Amino acid sequence: MSIDIVILAAGKGTRMRSSLPKVLQPLAGKPLLAHVLGTARTLPGNPRLHVIVGHGAETVRQAFAHERDIRWYQQERQLGTGDAVRQALPGLQDAERVLVLYGDVPLLRGETLRNFLHSTPVDALGLCTGELTDPRGYGRILRSAQEEVLEIREERDCNAEERALREVNLGIMLFPAARLADWLARLQPGNAQGEYYLTDLVGFACSDDVPVHGFRLPQPEEALGVNDPAQLAFAERFYQRRQVEALQREGLRCADPERFDLRGTLSFGADCWIEPNVIVEGQVRLGDRVRIGAGVILRDVEIGNDVEILPYSMIEEAKIGAEARIGPFARIRPGTEIGNAAHVGNFVETKKVTLGAGSKANHLTYLGDAEIGSGVNIGAGVITCNYDGANKHRTEIGDDVFVGSDTQLIAPVKVGAGATIGAGSTITREVPAGGLTLSRSPQKSVPHWQRPKKSVTPA
Ligand code: UD1
Ligand code: CA
Repeated sequence: MSIDIVILAAGKGTRMRSSLPKVLQPLAGKPLLAHVLGTARTLPGNPRLHVIVGHGAETVRQAFAHERDIRWYQQERQLGTGDAVRQALPGLQDAERVLVLYGDVPLLRGETLRNFLHSTPVDALGLCTGELTDPRGYGRILRSAQEEVLEIREERDCNAEERALREVNLGIMLFPAARLADWLARLQPGNAQGEYYLTDLVGFACSDDVPVHGFRLPQPEEALGVNDPAQLAFAERFYQRRQVEALQREGLRCADPERFDLRGTLSFGADCWIEPNVIVEGQVRLGDRVRIGAGVILRDVEIGNDVEILPYSMIEEAKIGAEARIGPFARIRPGTEIGNAAHVGNFVETKKVTLGAGSKANHLTYLGDAEIGSGVNIGAGVITCNYDGANKHRTEIGDDVFVGSDTQLIAPVKVGAGATIGAGSTITREVPAGGLTLSRSPQKSVPHWQRPKKSVTPA
């Protein structure tokens, strides 16, 4: 049985106080709507995706321009959830079942939706309900003495007794498509908000003797919507907790799962350990026995076996070889490749650099646009001067070179294998292999020299 999924995403999201349309607000680094689309695509039967946009429609469509499986519909005025679904009718000609989801309800799991789809008879109207301790803001579920769902009544249309009901409509609904156009045509805005309510279709189903199946979500938090920054933060924590629990079940060790954020995908080997306040973004791969220190940020990184990343290092678009040691306070920028067993220490910045196996740059250094061999020692305060104000130039350093502290390498420049550069040198020309090279002005001393004194000026 085929399934068409209509995702409502036309709302403004006034309470987000943001120029970004609500469904583009990020959860775990991805727009809310991307989560819903991702989950929708995991459903069986190759579902067709229909998205209703309104506020910020162009921006929303742009954000998903590369996703060719989405059909877009514009809802000019937000006249209610029923009116929103009506926009998709032209695209639902061949539909059999229509599932309605929301662009601002990002936590719903594919498994939950599959259970909902399976448990709802194909000719029935299905709706997801939940028992909430605080049902405020939701439509209440009215059931008969036999427990059959009779109606959804919006809170503003409820009397006091109905308002006290704790079973609510979570919004997610499933329709037999053959009935949908007819039911939507029957909608009237005769309610407290003057809107076309999708929820009124439940009443139509009852009067047409179409069975109504209320599916109680075991974890109603999954259907929480995002309307303001507090709900967004709640959703983020909920999502992160669920994600880290799954990783822990696969063997990730985390000092504090509440203080670990993953905004992308993380794969890892055996005995990996993550200290508190680590943020992982994009695609990150850890080998075996990798230790990630407190406060480390990793984005699109590949890390080999037995690597130690010490606290407060930031590593982006880089590859770190086995047994390397990075940080604390290292900044590894895009295009860096750190060789096996190499060390990069505190306040070292690298960009577009290869640092060979066993090489060390342990303190206060900038290495940019450089190819550095193996067994090289980069002293404290060394700088590759790669930028002349207009263009970038490369530095090449051979194997087993020793670069003394506080050396400036004025690129383009080459240093031959095995060379030693004396501390404090400004290197402007090629350094031959082997031997000692240094550029240093001669030291002089002035004996009996008097320090200047502060002059006394009369008041
Ligand atoms: C709706 C349900 C309510 C349920 C609640 C769950 C109706 C009438 N009520 O109420 O029973 O408890 O969801 O959260 O359906 N939207 C559009 N176009 C519109 C109107 C809404 O795209 O014209 C989108 C909004 O962007 C939002 C979603 O539909 O994502 C829900 O709309 P909203 O008006 O917030 O519905 P609720 O009042 O929360
Ligand atoms: Ca409303």
